[in-house]
Amino acid sequence: MTDDHAELIERHFRPDDPAFIDDPYPDFAALRTAMSIGRDPRSGQWILTRFDDVHEALRDRRLGRNYTQLFDHAEFGRPEPDPRWARFHEHEAWSLLALEPPDHTRLRRLVSKVFTQRSVNALRPAIERRADALLDRCAELGTIDLISDYAQPYSVGVICAMLGVPDHDTQRLLDWSHAIVKMYELHATDEQRVAADDAAGEFIEYVGDLIERKRSAPDDLLLSQLVAVEDGDDTLTVPEITSTTMVLLEAGHEATVNTLGNGMRAMMLHPDQWRRVTNGEVAPADAVEEMLRWDSPTQLFDRYVLADDVVIAGQPLERGDEVAMLFGSAQRDPDRFDDPDRFDVGRGDTKHIGFGGGIHFCIGAPLARAEVAASVEAIARRFPDIAVVEEPAYHPTFVIRGLERLRLSLAG
Ligand code: HEM
Repeated sequence: MTDDHAELIERHFRPDDPAFIDDPYPDFAALRTAMSIGRDPRSGQWILTRFDDVHEALRDRRLGRNYTQLFDHAEFGRPEPDPRWARFHEHEAWSLLALEPPDHTRLRRLVSKVFTQRSVNALRPAIERRADALLDRCAELGTIDLISDYAQPYSVGVICAMLGVPDHDTQRLLDWSHAIVKMYELHATDEQRVAADDAAGEFIEYVGDLIERKRSAPDDLLLSQLVAVEDGDDTLTVPEITSTTMVLLEAGHEATVNTLGNGMRAMMLHPDQWRRVTNGEVAPADAVEEMLRWDSPTQLFDRYVLADDVVIAGQPLERGDEVAMLFGSAQRDPDRFDDPDRFDVGRGDTKHIGFGGGIHFCIGAPLARAEVAASVEAIARRFPDIAVVEEPAYHPTFVIRGLERLRLSLAG
C-alpha cells in the first residue's frame, strides 16, 4: 500500500459529496483500475474494490461482522458501546447481522426452519394481489411517485403480512425503521442517533407486546412460528425473536424499495431494455438480477479482521483492522461482468453479490426476488408506456442507495 492509494481513495471515494452519490460509478472504475485494496486515511478502513476479492472476503471465516464472540472491547482495541444508544444496541443484539458462530449458526438454523423458500412460494399469490391492488390506486392518480405511492407501502405491507403484524401498524413501523437505519450510515449525526435510539426503544416495546399476543392467540404466520419453532429442545428467546422480527422488518423493506426504485430508474434510462420486458422477451425475474447488479441498493458492507496473519488481495492485515467491501464497485468489475456498465436485462447472471455470500447470505433473498419480480411484471403488463416526469434524486446517503422520489407518468 502506498500513499498514492490514500490519495486516490480520498479523490474517488467521497461518500459525503452529492456529485459522487449522484453517480459513483466512474469514480469506482478509477479506483478499481488503480487498486484492489487500499486504506482509507479518513476512516482507517481497508477498501476492497474488485469482485473476486469481495466474493472471497464474504466467505472468509477470519473476517466477521462482530468480534465479541472472541474478544472483549478492550482486547480488540474498541470502546465500550456508547450507553447513549443502549436501546439501539439492544434492538440489534440478537440480529443475525450482528452475530457470528456459534450464536449465528444456532439462530439462523431456527429462523430458517420457518422462513423458507416454501413459505415464500405460498405467499406468491398474495404478493401478486397486493401489487395489483396498489397499482389500481396508482392508476387513479395517473402520475405517481413510485417510491411513496407504491414501493414503500408494498414492501412493508408484504413483510408485515408475512409476519402477522396488523395493517394499521405498518406506518408506525415504517417510521421507526427509517429512523433506525440512519445509524448505519458512515457519518450519522447525533440528532439522527438520538432519533434512531428512540425509535429502537419504541420498536422493542411494540414487538414485545406483539409476541405476547401471538403467544396467547397464535396464528399460522411467521411471528407465531418464530415463537413456536423448535430444534430438538432448543427454542428462540424473547430477545432473539424481538431482534429477528426487527431485522426482518428493517432489512426486509429498505433494500427492496431501493431495488425497485433504482432498477426502474435504470429501465427508464434504457427504454430499449424496458421494451424487452414489456414485450415478453425477458422474464421479470431475470430483469431483477440485473436491476440488483447495475445500481446496488446496498453499497458497502464491512467486516472485522479476527485473526493474525490475514492477507487479503495481497495485502497483509492486522487483527482488529476493518475491511469495507464496495459492492457497487464489485458489481461493475469488468473482470467479472462483460461490458459491466451496460444495463442488459437479459444478462441472466444470478451469481452477482447483490445478496452477499457466505454465512450472512441474505435470508430474505427468495422473498426479495419474488416481490421485485411481481412488481416489474405487474407494472410492465399494466403500464408499458410509463415515463419519467421529473429527474430523480438519490437520498444523500451512501451505504443505503436509493431514490428520494421517482415520479412517473403511467400513460407515458
Ligand atoms: C432486494 C432486496 C435485498 C437486498 C439487496 C438484500 C441484501 C442483503 C445482503 C447484501 C446481505 C448480507 C450482508 C452482509 O454480508 O454483511 C443481507 C443479509 C440479510 N438480509 Fe437481505 N436483502 C434484501 C432483502 C431482504 C429481505 C426481503 C429480508 C427479509 C424479509 C432480508 C433479510 C436479511 C437478513 C435477516 C440478513 C442477515 C442474514 C444473516 O446474517 O445470516 N433481506 N441482505
